[in-house]
Amino acid sequence: MSDSPSAQITVRQFIEQASVRLDDAGAFYGHGTDNAWDDAVFLTLVTLGLEHDDPSAAERLIAPEELRLLEARLAARSDQRIPVAYLVGEAWFAGRRFLADKRALVPRSPIAELLNGGGIPFLDHAPAALLDLCCGGGSIGITAAHEFPEARVDLADLSSEALALAAENVALHQMDGRVSLLQSDLFESIPAAYDLILTNPPYVAAEEMTDIPDEYRHEPEMGLVCDDDGLGLPLRILRDAAEHLNPGGVLVMEVGYSHPQLSARLTGVPLVWLEFDQGGEGVFAITRADLCRYREHFI
Ligand SMILES: C[S@@+](CC[C@H](N)C(=O)[O-])C[C@H]1O[C@@H](n2cnc3c(N)ncnc32)[C@H](O)[C@@H]1O
Repeated sequence: MSDSPSAQITVRQFIEQASVRLDDAGAFYGHGTDNAWDDAVFLTLVTLGLEHDDPSAAERLIAPEELRLLEARLAARSDQRIPVAYLVGEAWFAGRRFLADKRALVPRSPIAELLNGGGIPFLDHAPAALLDLCCGGGSIGITAAHEFPEARVDLADLSSEALALAAENVALHQMDGRVSLLQSDLFESIPAAYDLILTNPPYVAAEEMTDIPDEYRHEPEMGLVCDDDGLGLPLRILRDAAEHLNPGGVLVMEVGYSHPQLSARLTGVPLVWLEFDQGGEGVFAITRADLCRYREHFI
């Protein structure tokens, strides 16, 4: 990107050139940023170990060896379409830093906004126990553990690789002892009951995988694809969640753009679809009482 290997450019110049290159390459932004500039800023600042709020960062000169690393990462981002989070090994979720790599999806659920002060619908008390089901790298459950400091938190996933990453994130956030990890096929190996279950299961229909941007092909397919038109796992969770919720408990689930299909399948079931100021969609809440009342719809 620079004119010669010895040419020195500033951080700002690199970010400007990188964002143009990303757009020219037709990159897709869906992994924590929604535009080329933010993607380029994230890649550049984390690679150089600079803080977002460092006033001197923009005009700092980039050393030749730093430039080589930046250019290699930019090429991997623009040519191979690897999400920035995987290239730099971290992602930000609900204002906190998490380790990120190919063992789990890049965290991006709008559930972050509920935990960051938005409030959990129907829940009239702070949960004493909560579960992040299909936890991936653990960002939702660990964020909830920060926001509900009195709660016992379980993180569950079927993938041992995702759980290994989640364990690293639990340690990073110094939550050992308060946050536990469980390997389970949905609720199969989960004996406990909770006041709140948060879940971001896979919900992409297999046929849709042919049309998705290349960036998503770097993520574990097991975190994305789901049978029955993307609704198989969400429906199983709806069927079994009541048994793992305490009286007064609430289930919050993200099904993203499978929202219309799920609503059509469950006509009459009071899924309360939530709105987000910071973007995102396809998250609903339902009480344990309604899960029991409408149980036959989920079978
Ligand atoms: C959309 S990802 C969750 C991402 C997570 N919120 C994060 O921030 O990393 C869905 C997760 O569901 C897990 N999963 C898939 N099938 C499962 C099953 N039958 N039981 C439990 N977890 C499952 C995948 O391993 C994946 O980690």
